[in-house]
Amino acid sequence: MNADALVIFGITGDLARKMTFRSLYRLEATGLLDCPIIGVAREDWSHDHLVSALREALHTVGEPVEAPAFERLARRLTYLRGDFADPATYQALAGRLKDVEKPLFYLEIPPSLFAPVVEALGAANLTAQATVMLEKPFGHDLASARALNARLHRVLAEEQILRIDHFLGKQPVLDIQFLRFANALLEPVWNRDHVAAVQITMAEDFGVEDRGAFYDPVGALRDVVQNHLLQVLALIAMEAPVGPGADALWDRRVDVFRAMADVDPARCLRGQYEGYLDVPGVRPGSLTETYVELALAVDNWRWSGVPFSIRAGKALAARVTEVRVVFKHPPRLAFLDEPEHPDPNELVLRIDPDAGLRLNMLSKKASGQSTRDVHLDLSFAAELGKPPEPYERLLNDALTGDRSLFTRQDVVEETWRVIQPLVDHPPAPVPYERGSWGPTQNPDHTSWQLPWLAHPGQGPQPA
Ligand code: BG6
Repeated sequence: MNADALVIFGITGDLARKMTFRSLYRLEATGLLDCPIIGVAREDWSHDHLVSALREALHTVGEPVEAPAFERLARRLTYLRGDFADPATYQALAGRLKDVEKPLFYLEIPPSLFAPVVEALGAANLTAQATVMLEKPFGHDLASARALNARLHRVLAEEQILRIDHFLGKQPVLDIQFLRFANALLEPVWNRDHVAAVQITMAEDFGVEDRGAFYDPVGALRDVVQNHLLQVLALIAMEAPVGPGADALWDRRVDVFRAMADVDPARCLRGQYEGYLDVPGVRPGSLTETYVELALAVDNWRWSGVPFSIRAGKALAARVTEVRVVFKHPPRLAFLDEPEHPDPNELVLRIDPDAGLRLNMLSKKASGQSTRDVHLDLSFAAELGKPPEPYERLLNDALTGDRSLFTRQDVVEETWRVIQPLVDHPPAPVPYERGSWGPTQNPDHTSWQLPWLAHPGQGPQPA
């Protein structure tokens, strides 16, 4: 069901400049936009000001712009100046929307305003057939996520709420489900009989930069683990959806989280890069983590006993977001010159920066009876060309009423439940050097800080 107007609260903000304008332009250029767009914000902007902000933003992000598409988008945009706390703003908006049946409200505003704005939209009778798209973060712990859901549900049905997690719009993340269930080769080995460990990494080679004020109350766990990386884990671990549509998909994902015990803070590591305390907006003496490593488990028939680990960090040696599925070791090979257990196979799903798939295997060296590393590598860009940007895809899905890529209430609450003990009892952060692989100076991103995560499948796991 297509929205017949898009209303963007906070159109003068940072996210609009960095992401939204480009997504709108691309949807316009590919003929996918067909409704008016109203930007609402407090600033004293005119339509001309908004159009020049659009032009400047596209230029800054390096988007090649064609005049006809730009002109069409500029004509589609209007601006409404208003304070989000003032009922007059919503009356004025209602006037603009008088011929609109199904508006899509996109809230690019501070999370503390989500509920008040939705309540004001409800009070102005604007929500009967509306959908509301919300930026992250959704809550800052389990209790606040529940409270926010409860407030939103007083005005909106769950089907009207679209919670954004931009990782779910990334092509290689979407591909996990297809890779697993469309290839009969993989499914028979995708379980505790054959998999020794699943390791999810999100390393960034840049620091917090100019986002200190946003980041410091949040930290790595809330910023990317509770949402992006746990969603990736669910895609790796879930059973196949048994029907089309959003709920069939989310039913299988919530099963994964329900099978996960609460995280044990004693099996987690937190780090902070040296120099973080000098970032503008960071509180003096802050103990916020810029690196986190967690040991997790999915206790069901498919995965019981397999360690799932997640780590995320800023100011590390390189940018790498990937999932490494490590298979079990082969038995000792008696026919080798020096009999040994060869290294296990690994399937690496690369999400960023170069999306693709790599299968690490062993073959025979040219001479002698010994093994050497080889790999099969697939670059998605080479096979598929350039996919839509995550925000472009999500915005289009929201406009056309497809909820599959937006997280559901029960899923959001379960992910908070899993990490809540670490939120409540965070171990002190260990310092690490900028440009390193984290607190214990590992040589590369295939090694982990927590010793029992380092060699999956070799030896017992500590309780
Ligand atoms: C955001 C986080 O959600 O995701 C950022 O707030 C992080 O801290 C970003 O850098 C990473 O997303 P991407 O798509 O650039 O890898």
